[in-house]
Amino acid sequence: MSVNMHRVGDVAFVTLDNPPVNAIGLSVRSGLMRAIEWVATEQNLSHVVLSGVGKCFAAGADATEFDAPPKAPHLPDVVAGIEQSDVPWVAAINGLALGGGAELTLACNYRVISPNTKIGFPEVTLGVVPGAGGTQRLPRLIGVAAAIDMIATGRPVSAAKGLSIGLVDVLSEDPVEAATKIEKSTLVGIRLAANNPSAQLDEDALKQGRAMVAKKFANQIAPAKAIDLIEISCSKALAYGLAQEREAFLTFRSGPQSKALRHVFFAERGARAPKQLKSLAVALDHVAVVGGGTMGAGIAYALLNAGLKVTVLETDSEAAVRARDNVEKIIKASQARGLISDRDAADRRTNLETTSDYSSAADATLAIEAAFESMEVKKAIFEALQANLPPDAILATNTSYLDVDEIAANLDDPSRLLGLHFFAPAHIMKLLEIVKGAKTGQMALATGYALATRLGKIPVVAGVCDGFIGNRILARYREAADTVFMDGSTPWEIDDAMVEFGYAMGPYEAQDLSGLDIAHANRRRQDATRDPKRRYVPIADRMIELGKLGRKTSAGWYRYPGGGSKVEDPIVADLALEEAHFAGLTRTDYTADQIRERLLMAMINEAADILFEGIAASASDIDLVTVHGYGFPRWRGGLMHYADSLGVDLIVQTLDQLAIEDPIVWRASPVLRDCQERGISLADWRREA
Ligand code: COA
Repeated sequence: MSVNMHRVGDVAFVTLDNPPVNAIGLSVRSGLMRAIEWVATEQNLSHVVLSGVGKCFAAGADATEFDAPPKAPHLPDVVAGIEQSDVPWVAAINGLALGGGAELTLACNYRVISPNTKIGFPEVTLGVVPGAGGTQRLPRLIGVAAAIDMIATGRPVSAAKGLSIGLVDVLSEDPVEAATKIEKSTLVGIRLAANNPSAQLDEDALKQGRAMVAKKFANQIAPAKAIDLIEISCSKALAYGLAQEREAFLTFRSGPQSKALRHVFFAERGARAPKQLKSLAVALDHVAVVGGGTMGAGIAYALLNAGLKVTVLETDSEAAVRARDNVEKIIKASQARGLISDRDAADRRTNLETTSDYSSAADATLAIEAAFESMEVKKAIFEALQANLPPDAILATNTSYLDVDEIAANLDDPSRLLGLHFFAPAHIMKLLEIVKGAKTGQMALATGYALATRLGKIPVVAGVCDGFIGNRILARYREAADTVFMDGSTPWEIDDAMVEFGYAMGPYEAQDLSGLDIAHANRRRQDATRDPKRRYVPIADRMIELGKLGRKTSAGWYRYPGGGSKVEDPIVADLALEEAHFAGLTRTDYTADQIRERLLMAMINEAADILFEGIAASASDIDLVTVHGYGFPRWRGGLMHYADSLGVDLIVQTLDQLAIEDPIVWRASPVLRDCQERGISLADWRREA
């Protein structure tokens, strides 16, 4: 049963019962319609209490239905049915009320909420606007500014905030009981949100809201439309506003942005440990982190935040003091931003030890090495860990590029080792690449997944190769950018083209942030194995010679006078002219579309090879990596979802065209050809077992 109904005395109870989150699918809508009819036939009812079974009131429309045409009864009809009931309805918001769930509460005469829960309209995060009256009823209840704040950002509010803005009427630890006991007199004369007068037009709030969405949701259609709809609610009749809202909801629901955002939403939920691994993880209580530099300190802080005891191991006592300072900086910054309380900060400090004595980690069940990227250094560290930690402790390396199998080969039991590739800042970035070496055992893998869950991160398993999934695609992206730069464009033209595509910043500005020296070290490491026939673009090496390492030297691809904002640097643009001249090239004036085509095709092709080699298990794993680790626009669904939206035919055709210029660099991946031949998408491509 998706909706339960019963009566006790003069109170009717209607309870949403659709585990796990009471998503409002067809069965719930039909059940609610039946409940509305049932209420109409019952005599002498005081009121109806509407609540949800489990931890949610209702998590909104069932997004799995969005790919198919809508089926009656529709949610707006359910909402209207509740509103038109002769008996007052009271929402007992026992748990999360989101989207359609929150819209159901707006149809009720009264709202009682548990103090521990939240209520909100996250529809824009799935690329749609509220579809059952949210944009019309909410402003009539809480005003334009507060409605914009909720609907256009998609951010839910706490129960207390809901009370302070007039969204809910009462807080109660037991909302169902409180709703049951409400006196009939309390409900008499309470006006429905729909019957309130339109909210006062608030030009300032509309302007600020539009500025906010232009910045935060650039290129996304739903947030801006939500504000337009809220504006409509101020001057037009409810029925008109509802019709406009519904039309936008249905259009967006079947549009590419919502499809992409839903894809990422479900991919995130799919990125969990396979069932058979769940029970195998080692218990986590005390974790050792080797190296307390920027990355190590970020990892240590993330672990402390998850309530773990952390020992940061350093080379000597001075380095240990520096490591503590590095973690302390993050603790202080988090405190200053109100992310943690003074008490939390004190707990973090108590649970942190920084030392050069490996025996301090003698009872750690997991160690994460985040030291200098040198095979010799890492081998020595893992020998020390092996000697000091329990024999079944899991050992992880945070290496970005080095061969996990070579590190493992040095251990007595290589099955204990895996890669845990964090992204800087490690306490903020959601992605965790779990690198599975040839000998990585099930227990190590399970522990990687368990750690990701504990830290609230999104785990993606990657095989061993240079750069794993993310950095390997990034290296190809940069190579393509440097080629376009040398052959015709400037870094700022390239950056602008990618920002227009939806990246927060282009490849050059991003590299100035991380530093040009890291990629340089990688290029030198790859010298020995690079295909001598492959074109090599020397511009980045010239930058190193000039000492332009990025923001840290106040000059990289851009200049940063006084450490401030970026300024285009004609000297950098001249480097390309010079190198093109040395190479005897005639430069091409690429359009922004051509720039995007080259950079995106390069990444898609590399990603397809990554699938081919089994480095990533699925296209959606690559989507998660690109969205959560590399700034690929979420609303485009990740690199492979975007590729599928173009279609493999077009991609292969474009690559074949580019291959006329350079057959080595632009050779189309066998996966793309296979998809084309079999008429399948990248999302559906799997390696044969
Ligand atoms: N439609 C369909 N399925 C949904 C859903 C929705 N609106 N919300 C959650 N689910 C599913 C998840 O896919 C997951 O399914 P799975 O177990 O098969 O993987 C399951 O419900 C549990 O969700 P999960 O996100 O893993 O649980 P959680 O406790 O971490 O978070 C929520 C719960 C409700 C906060 C979160 O699921 C959420 O934000 N949902 C979307 C809310 C929303 O945007 N509603 C508006 C829709 S237009």
